[in-house]
Amino acid sequence: MIPVIELKREYRAVRDEISRAIRRVLEKSWFVLGEEVEAFEKEFAGYIGRSYAVGVNSGTDALFLALKALGIGDGDEVITVSNTTTPTALAIVHTGAVPVFVDIEPDTLLLDITQIRKSITKSTRAILPVHLFGNPVDMAPLLEIGKAKRGTESTSQLNIYPVCCFLPPLNILCYCLFGHI
Ligand SMILES: Cc1ncc(COP(=O)(O)O)c(C=O)c1O
Repeated sequence: MIPVIELKREYRAVRDEISRAIRRVLEKSWFVLGEEVEAFEKEFAGYIGRSYAVGVNSGTDALFLALKALGIGDGDEVITVSNTTTPTALAIVHTGAVPVFVDIEPDTLLLDITQIRKSITKSTRAILPVHLFGNPVDMAPLLEIGKAKRGTESTSQLNIYPVCCFLPPLNILCYCLFGHI
């Protein structure tokens, strides 16, 4: 049988580093927030090219908080992709907004960007693409759609909040469940 996801191989490649990190946390016995989380937030912000990153309890809350920070709520629509997990839709619904689903591309299984324009209405406030199966969504055409909707030439006029859900089979290797904004 060919496994869909091969986590053991990934683990073997970083085993010593992971063991050292786990030992360090156990020795400090500081399991919630603290120096390790702060160090990770700094390192992760640098990795994604941002000034700040904040760890939260779950990917669902990371999505919800990012949407709230954008002021999204009752009567708004958020475009997302139909093959995402329920937390994406739940985070949108939890703000009071309505998720509007766009289908996927058959080759990449990622959001079909060509379908987004048809789904934009007066109530559209955000596009929530999901990077899955190790494949990133091509952000350049999405930014063009955002700029056209906002009536601006500049990407700096757009609010872009990278949200990361950490779960072992997702895009970044990890050994826990949490979220990052
Ligand atoms: C694409 C995607 N978004 C959001 C989530 C939610 O993350 P969490 O389970 O940490 O709330 C998941 C979890 O599987 C996910 O796969």
